[in-house]
Amino acid sequence: MISSRTLDEELCVTVKTPHQDLHSQRGPVTGDRPARAANPVIKVEDLAWLEFEKPDLDAAERFAHDFGFTTAEHTPLELVLRGTRQGAPCVLVRQGSASRYVGATFRAADRGDLDRLAHATGAAVKERATAGGGHVVSLTDPSGIPVSVVAGVEELPALPRQPTQVFNFGNEVRRINATQRLPREPAKVERLGHVVLETPRFGRALDWYLEHLGLIVSDFLYFPGQRERGPTMAFIRCDRGVTPADHHTLAMLLGPAPRYVHSAYQVADLDAIAMGGQFLKDRGHTRAWGIGRHIQGSQIFDYWRDPGGLMVEHFADGDLFDNTVEVGWAEMSASGLAQWGPPVTRDFLGANPSPRLVRDLVAALRDRDNEFDARRLLGLAKVASR
Ligand SMILES: [Fe+2]
Repeated sequence: MISSRTLDEELCVTVKTPHQDLHSQRGPVTGDRPARAANPVIKVEDLAWLEFEKPDLDAAERFAHDFGFTTAEHTPLELVLRGTRQGAPCVLVRQGSASRYVGATFRAADRGDLDRLAHATGAAVKERATAGGGHVVSLTDPSGIPVSVVAGVEELPALPRQPTQVFNFGNEVRRINATQRLPREPAKVERLGHVVLETPRFGRALDWYLEHLGLIVSDFLYFPGQRERGPTMAFIRCDRGVTPADHHTLAMLLGPAPRYVHSAYQVADLDAIAMGGQFLKDRGHTRAWGIGRHIQGSQIFDYWRDPGGLMVEHFADGDLFDNTVEVGWAEMSASGLAQWGPPVTRDFLGANPSPRLVRDLVAALRDRDNEFDARRLLGLAKVASR
C-alpha cells in the first residue's frame, strides 16, 4: 500500500519525547547522528569564558559597560570583563590588530579531568600564569577554532545583582501603593551563557565536542527538505547528570567558513533586557535583532553589534535541562527562530551580501574536504526564505 505520508513524516515516526512540549517538532529516528557520546573523555561543567582581540581596549570597555559588563581588570594589554555571579570572568579581551573572536574556555571538574583530556589528545596540562591561577589544556577543534579547558581557577566573588520588579498579575496583587519606575541603565550582565559558531566541518566538530568534552545535544535542526542528510545545526549542553544545565552552552551550525556568530550573556529579566536595550540605543549602538523569545532554548533575547561588528546577546529566562532530556529535531527556518518578536533581520542571519561572504562561499564549494556543498547552499538559502 502506498503511504500518504511525506518522506519527513516517514523518517520521523517516533516516541513522544519532552521536546514535543518544547516546540521541537519531532524526535530522533534510527540511523540519526548520535546526540551524545557513549564514553566521552571528560564531561565539562560549563563554559568558563570567551577570549577576543580588540584594537582599542578603551573603546571595547565603553561598549562593555553600556552592555552591562563590570570591569574586573584593565591593563594596557588586557581587559577582563565579568558579570555579577560568583565564578569566572565572562570575557577576556586582549590588545590585537583587529576585532576578532579568539576562542572558548570550558571548566572541568578537577585536575584529574585535565590529565585525562591531555592524555587523550596528546596535549599538555599547563599551569596558568595569569590571574586566577589553576591549570589549562589548550586544544584546537576540527574547525581550527581554539578551545581550552581549565580547572582549579580561583572564583571571583559575587557582586550585587540587578533588582527585579514586583508584578501584579490579574487577581494576584503583590504591589499596592507603589509604582514601577525603572532607572534608565544598562542591563546588568550576570554571567556568560553560550557561544554560537559556524563551521564547514559541522559533523566532525560536533563529534569532537561530544567525545572530548562530554557535551550532549539538546536540539538538532536540519535544512528544509534535507532531513535525511542529517543535522546542520546543534544546540549543545553540558552533561551535569541530575544538575540542570543551560539548554545550550555551545551552538554550532553548518556554513561556508569557520566563524564566530554570537555570544550570549544572562541578565535579570524582560524589563532588564528592554531597558538595557533602550540604554544601548540611546548610546548609538546597533541592534541586530530583538526583542523576542526563541524556540530552541526559550530565551527572551536581544542581539546587538559591538563597535567592531561582533554580535552579542542579552538573554533571560532560558530552559535548563538535566541529562535525562532526549534530543529534539526541527526544520531550520528564519520564522522558526522565535515564538514572538520582530521578523528576523538579514544582519542576524549573516545574509547581508559582502565580498567576504562571496569569497567564503566560493572557497567552501571548491573545498572537497568539508560538508558544505551546492545542495547545502540551496538548503541554507531556503532557511532565510521560510
Ligand atoms: Fe543565542
